[in-house]
Amino acid sequence: MKNLKEFKKMKEAGDKIAMITAYDYPSGKYVEASGADVILVGDSLGMVIQGYENTLKVTLEDMVYHSRAVRRGAPNTFIIADLPFLSYHINLAETKRNAARLYRDGGINAVKLEGGKASRVDAIKAIVDCEIPVCAHLGLTPQSIGALGGYIVQGKEEKDYQRILQQAMEIEDAGAFMLVLEGIPEPLGEEITRKACIPTIGIGAGRYTDGQVLVFHDLLGMSDIKPKFVKQYANLGQDIPASLSQWKDQVKNKEFPERRNVYNPMD
Ligand code: KIV
Repeated sequence: MKNLKEFKKMKEAGDKIAMITAYDYPSGKYVEASGADVILVGDSLGMVIQGYENTLKVTLEDMVYHSRAVRRGAPNTFIIADLPFLSYHINLAETKRNAARLYRDGGINAVKLEGGKASRVDAIKAIVDCEIPVCAHLGLTPQSIGALGGYIVQGKEEKDYQRILQQAMEIEDAGAFMLVLEGIPEPLGEEITRKACIPTIGIGAGRYTDGQVLVFHDLLGMSDIKPKFVKQYANLGQDIPASLSQWKDQVKNKEFPERRNVYNPMD
């Protein structure tokens, strides 16, 4: 399992960091087998697992439950789990308690939280003060969907560009060990990556971040929507229903089970 020092060395050496989301035992197992450096138990599970239209209904209990399952599937991979909406927004005492609960009971290696305004920088400092590694997340932060007015690329205007750049530097000073950059123009991803000492992981942030992350279901073709930044490496969204209906047809046609699928008294 890689550690914080190794991620920093990878950045310094120009070795790209590969992160994939996972949400349960089998996806954890598959991602570990891929050799990816990091698993993210993302609160995107609210959408791809629970079927909500956004991530806001995911609870801390959900995150602990899914993190534990992923850890069972991926005992040897560095796992980051998302702190869900409202788990670090109220006050620093609640923030620390929630981060510690997810870290301890989820069996993970680090937590992630979204945003870069002053209260988020304080939250990062408070969690780091509990000896819990923190990954930050800037740009298009899905938990701020209401305030952002939708899934809109951030940092296109100069003022916004400079604000995100400034927040990246403050987050690094606060003690975050890694920074996810989502939905920003490539030049901003490149500039933050060049100026920051901590590794940046992009999703829709261009080619120059220190690593890349994709959602498991997007990568495997199991999502209904396909944003521009997604590259699909399989088409399970078609393969799974085709296999299920083939099996159903074989049952109806009495082609399943075959002789080799049944137990005989002599076995
Ligand atoms: O929840 C998630 O999966 C994420 C990634 C999209 C970075 O935060």
